[in-house]
Amino acid sequence: MDLLPKDSLEIIRNADRIVFLTGAGISNESGIPTFRGEGGLWKNFRAEDLATTSAFQKDPNLVWEWYDWRRGICQNAKPNAGHLTIASWQKKSKSVSLITQNVDGLHPRAGSHSLIELHGNIFKARCTKCSEKFHIIDDGLDKPGLKYCKLCESLLRPDIVWFGEEYNQTLLTKSWEYCKQSQVVFVIGTSANVSVPANLAQTAVRNGAIGIEINPEETNLTASMKHHFDGKSGEILPKIWNEVFPNEPIK
Ligand code: OAD
Repeated sequence: MDLLPKDSLEIIRNADRIVFLTGAGISNESGIPTFRGEGGLWKNFRAEDLATTSAFQKDPNLVWEWYDWRRGICQNAKPNAGHLTIASWQKKSKSVSLITQNVDGLHPRAGSHSLIELHGNIFKARCTKCSEKFHIIDDGLDKPGLKYCKLCESLLRPDIVWFGEEYNQTLLTKSWEYCKQSQVVFVIGTSANVSVPANLAQTAVRNGAIGIEINPEETNLTASMKHHFDGKSGEILPKIWNEVFPNEPIK
């Protein structure tokens, strides 16, 4: 049975800009836990104890321990069919933008070269004093525990946007532009609880894009979407690809 009606397929095929906005759910099938819901990371931990600047000032060891543990999970995970479908779409067309809330690095590993990582990347660290950035593995900082700057020897912190912190303005401006210009926005695997990404999706729809949500649960965004697919992105996205590009393999 077809997932998408003809009119939506036509809009997707003719779109000048398509935006994929992804959240933790897309990586769930790769074995990375989501933040909220059953088995979610925030069920076992309080966000304020781990993902805020004050938590880091109070107990940097605890915060690094949590990120070292999560980075290990991400390192051992592999991109799934959802990540690979989006990467293929981007290889096929330059007008496909990817904005992710995920810090797990699975989109780039799937081959998505042009992407906006709104919340940072778990494989990167930043100096609390001179702001120099490091790659935790490539720069040999992957020993668990506190890490120090190779230039000024001050404490490093995860290069993540924590609760209450500002987003990178350049990335945010680009994201707004992409969303305003888009004719189609795919909203995949996010509970839409964080206001900036949720507003990005709403902006796309308010500016005329059709919204396509893939999520086993309904969210605050569901009502404004043209289509909601109740299922796993690793299963639904390849099916949508096959309807949009019949007989073209996902590469
Ligand atoms: P959440 O954990 O809030 O939501 C994950 C969503 O994915 C839920 O709505 C699930 O129903 C859905 N989901 C689960 N499995 C899925 C699957 N196989 N396919 C599709 N959807 C699935 O994660 P986010 O919305 O990404 O911030 O959370 C946003 C931010 O909150 C995160 O980036 C993180 C967190 O605090 C930072 O780390 C800075």
